[in-house]
Amino acid sequence: MKPSILLFLLAVVTLVTSSVQAAGPSVSLDSVKVDVDDRISLQRGARLFANYCMGCHSLEYMRYNRVGRDLGLTENQVIESLIFTTDEDGELVNPGSLMSNAMTPAYGDEAFGRAPPDLTLLTRVRSEDWLYTFLRSFYRDESRPLGVNNAVFENVGMPHPLWELQGWQEKREDADGAVRLQVVEPGTMSGPEYDRAIRDLVAFLSYMAEPTQLDRQRIGIFAMLFLLIFVVLAYLLKKEYWKDVH
Ligand code: HEC
Repeated sequence: MKPSILLFLLAVVTLVTSSVQAAGPSVSLDSVKVDVDDRISLQRGARLFANYCMGCHSLEYMRYNRVGRDLGLTENQVIESLIFTTDEDGELVNPGSLMSNAMTPAYGDEAFGRAPPDLTLLTRVRSEDWLYTFLRSFYRDESRPLGVNNAVFENVGMPHPLWELQGWQEKREDADGAVRLQVVEPGTMSGPEYDRAIRDLVAFLSYMAEPTQLDRQRIGIFAMLFLLIFVVLAYLLKKEYWKDVH
């Protein structure tokens, strides 16, 4: 076989196996239904992201003022509740800036072993269910450098960012051998409250990965209405044209 064909086959095999790895989680994912039309939920998600995630993760394909516009926030609200990043002079960046942060990849690599990735497109790369389950699956694990592990992302390099809200979970084995996570030290939120907070966060990142979905749904309804009216008109027109033919 020619070397080029061999290389091609090798590339195909690598591609197929790597996508299978990415698609095949070892734990079953909890499914989540987010409503990106619920602006209040998106606003809560945005606030959580700004307070608990932006220090490490950027959303650098998005601008603050676009988020403000889409989520119905005034410019002052954007400045007060979303912008914590400062520029070289120590001033808060302006609302027209991209949502990047001050952490350089080199610093991230050194501090965590792997730099925190940009999350703008996360729900498209993983999925909403994956993110929802991931953020609810941190548990204590003394064998890890940060004392924490994740059931969905084994040996993750990220600390549990929301431990104050969720509390701490530990891995427990049931009598029938099934492994589950149990809260052993409660946080400031109850289980259902925490799940709702995570749903808001997932909704926000789902909007982030595809901001036009807000418009698309609205335009979709108008398009359907237009087609409906057009069908009626076309039908009447057809009746008019054919009425003398028979
Ligand atoms: C202290 C820094 C830090 C904070 C705060 C933080 N993360 Fe992370 N995050 C990381 C690091 C480092 C990684 C890379 C981990 C790895 O690959 O092992 C990561 C990875 C991730 C991943 C996996 C990305 C992928 O596909 O590989 C997701 C999702 C994520 N973080 C979401 C969040 C969310 C949501 C928040 C806020 C609630 C948050 N992170 C807060 C440091 C942080």
